[in-house]
Amino acid sequence: MADILQIRRPASGTEAELAITEATIRATELRQFDISGEPLATFDPGFMNTAVCHSAITYIDGDAGVLEYRGYPIAELAEHSTYLEVAYLLLNGELPNAAQLTQWEQQVTEHRTLPDKLKTVLAGFPYDAHPMTILMASVAAFYSFYPDARNFDDPEARDLNITRLIAKMPTLAAFAYRKAKARPYVNPDDSYGYCHNFLAMLFKQAERRYVADPRLIRAMEVLFILHADHEQNCSTNAVRSVASSGNDLYTCASAGIGALHGPLHGGANEAVLKMLREIRTVDRVPEFIEGVKAGKVRMMGFGHRVYKNYDPRAKIIKKSVEDVFEVTGVNPLLEVAKELERYGLEDEYFVKRRLYPNVDFYSGLIYEALGFPPEMFTVLFAIPRTSGWAAQYQEFITDPEQKIARPKQIYTGSRTRSYVPMEERD
Ligand code: ACO
Repeated sequence: MADILQIRRPASGTEAELAITEATIRATELRQFDISGEPLATFDPGFMNTAVCHSAITYIDGDAGVLEYRGYPIAELAEHSTYLEVAYLLLNGELPNAAQLTQWEQQVTEHRTLPDKLKTVLAGFPYDAHPMTILMASVAAFYSFYPDARNFDDPEARDLNITRLIAKMPTLAAFAYRKAKARPYVNPDDSYGYCHNFLAMLFKQAERRYVADPRLIRAMEVLFILHADHEQNCSTNAVRSVASSGNDLYTCASAGIGALHGPLHGGANEAVLKMLREIRTVDRVPEFIEGVKAGKVRMMGFGHRVYKNYDPRAKIIKKSVEDVFEVTGVNPLLEVAKELERYGLEDEYFVKRRLYPNVDFYSGLIYEALGFPPEMFTVLFAIPRTSGWAAQYQEFITDPEQKIARPKQIYTGSRTRSYVPMEERD
């Protein structure tokens, strides 16, 4: 028997049966209820309980703390994969075999350089421009260099532009970083892998050949894997929404970068570090917690719209913190973070609201230990999330169910008034 939801409106005596499929009802079916001349709709700011697409990319069970890419648990991918292998998985649905991976790595390596004219654009930014602003503007500018990105219905053109964007993001990020430091740019080196090359473009100085500690390269791979996708989050929703009006990947990714820049989303790890610096020492943690409970401040890096359990990514990052500190030495703020976490896991305020550490709680400490300034932290999120955005973009473009994004509103303003001439206004 088909699963249905019966709805009755006593005020008008109307009744309807709505089909339940995949634990959802179709919101448009509610329109059959006429409420004083208005079709019935749902009100859902922030999409708290509204599915906007079918997706086969990332699965999350927030109550159980489960995250899977294409069915593979995140912990297994973080243990065994490289970031590019995971990017391939997100885009193609299957892990690559050895030949496919080599070919994909070569394709990405080929597209790492930036167009020369874009370097002139980069030079025009103020010396203290936030690197996320540079990233957002430059990714949008890519469309003027690669206008074939509008041929997104052609799989070949789509693949080429996805590869270009994934390949160029680290180069763009490294150039933005070195510009802020007034250091000359370091061009990509084809002999390095994706993460090693990124570290070289960032940190190479006068040495003939930059060689990063393999443990740091691995930590970078793991961080990139953990941040690669997270189903319909704020920035992915921005990407899909901008794609819905028929946009190229670059314009959509630029919107995603803008969404990610906010402190409630990708900017949270920068905010965590600021918070840890303000608390400074373990003995000041109880006072800070009192402030959180009084609603004066939020505990950054805690809480999540979807996870009502320990964020599985936070567990993996906590382990990476230790690996990185083995190489770089321990950051004393780690003790402050651990004490905050201890309170967070025990105190009734957090327990009742099911607030747990999220991916950002420990990642800032790693980034700082690797030598990144806080304003680069969100950039380090945007680089790997590009593969997720690209996979979601591709899924959107090829999904016949999708339409231009156009939510409804409940209008609360004035209605039909006569124009008031200037001299008659208060
Ligand atoms: N510190 C203190 N209290 C919090 C926190 C927090 N970090 N997060 C939520 N709460 C409280 C709220 O005050 C609210 O309490 P109330 O019921 O007494 O009013 C309750 O928990 C529910 O919070 P909402 O804001 O309604 O939850 P929502 O799902 O909308 O927000 C969010 C999720 C934005 C992530 C929130 O938890 C937050 O601001 N966290 C801090 C910022 C952060 O770490 N963001 C990174 C998220 S992960 C990512 O984007 C990669």
